[in-house]
Amino acid sequence: MVAIPTETVYGLAGNALDEKAVAKIFAVKNRPTFDPLIVHTYSTDKIHEFVDEFPPKAQRLAEHFWAGAMTLLLPKKAIIPDLVTAGLPTVAVRIPKHPLALRLLESLSFPVAAPSANPFGYISPTTAQHVAAQLGDKIPYILDGGNCNVGIESTIIGFEDEKVIIYRLGGISVEAIEQVVGKVIVKSHSTSNPNAPGRLESHYAPKKPLYLDEEILEKFTPEEIGVLSFSEYLPCIPQANQCILSLRKDYLEAAQNLFSMMRKLDAMPVKVIFAKLLPEESLGRAINDRLRRASVK
Ligand code: TXA
Ligand code: MG
Repeated sequence: MVAIPTETVYGLAGNALDEKAVAKIFAVKNRPTFDPLIVHTYSTDKIHEFVDEFPPKAQRLAEHFWAGAMTLLLPKKAIIPDLVTAGLPTVAVRIPKHPLALRLLESLSFPVAAPSANPFGYISPTTAQHVAAQLGDKIPYILDGGNCNVGIESTIIGFEDEKVIIYRLGGISVEAIEQVVGKVIVKSHSTSNPNAPGRLESHYAPKKPLYLDEEILEKFTPEEIGVLSFSEYLPCIPQANQCILSLRKDYLEAAQNLFSMMRKLDAMPVKVIFAKLLPEESLGRAINDRLRRASVK
């Protein structure tokens, strides 16, 4: 088991076909075994070895977005251990775009299961240093591939009859997906569906309480508040306490910065974090999804 870079976030990777290796991943992350893992490989041909069906819409998406920040849920073959899929009949598969990850995957005879390389519930790592800070003493090796250039996890997509369903908003926007397969259903906010991925409510969370409601600005002194904002500083808070995701309002840049900035705010001498939601479009939607899950309810 080693930590590997991908273009979305760093992953904690082990042989997906070896139940012992997979069990170790769950243990190191302190992750409940009802939460299934994504299987990574380097080609669509390889994926056919692990899945029973590859519907036409899934193929179209694969052609457009792989290698890339997209995960498809497809009916699994018996070769994939039940531990990987938490007993579900589908397996999550992805071809990552990071050159180091691809080279590693091409050199292996097996696919790798890899959840984000963070302790369960905390913010995902987007640098090797993030991984080292939290899991360094528990894993033998971290492959350093620099900063993740997408910065948020993959978009997870499933298929039901003719319908395309997004279960987790991520690095590929809803708009981009709809350009390829037409209207999709977004079920990312479902709280009741245990099959729905990425959906555990409290997730991606810093240790300091994070609030989305501006009321918090009146309850603490300006020095006690850290701010995460899309493109503009708040006039009422010292600038040193503020992280701006993208001064030029670029969603790609904002996504790249999101998790690093959440960590930075977590480490600042402030008591609470106020995060201002982005416009609900493009990657702003996926970023808002992470902020909502990270926030105090
Ligand atoms: O970008 C990513 O997807 C990163 C990199 C490392 O590839 N991986 C990642 O893995 O975010 P993880 O384990 O942190 O999140 C995977 C999500 C989980 O929320 C899990 O519930 C969901 O995928 N998932 C996996 N298999 C599933 C399945 N068969 N059905 C439904 N959800 C599934
Ligand atoms: Mg994760």
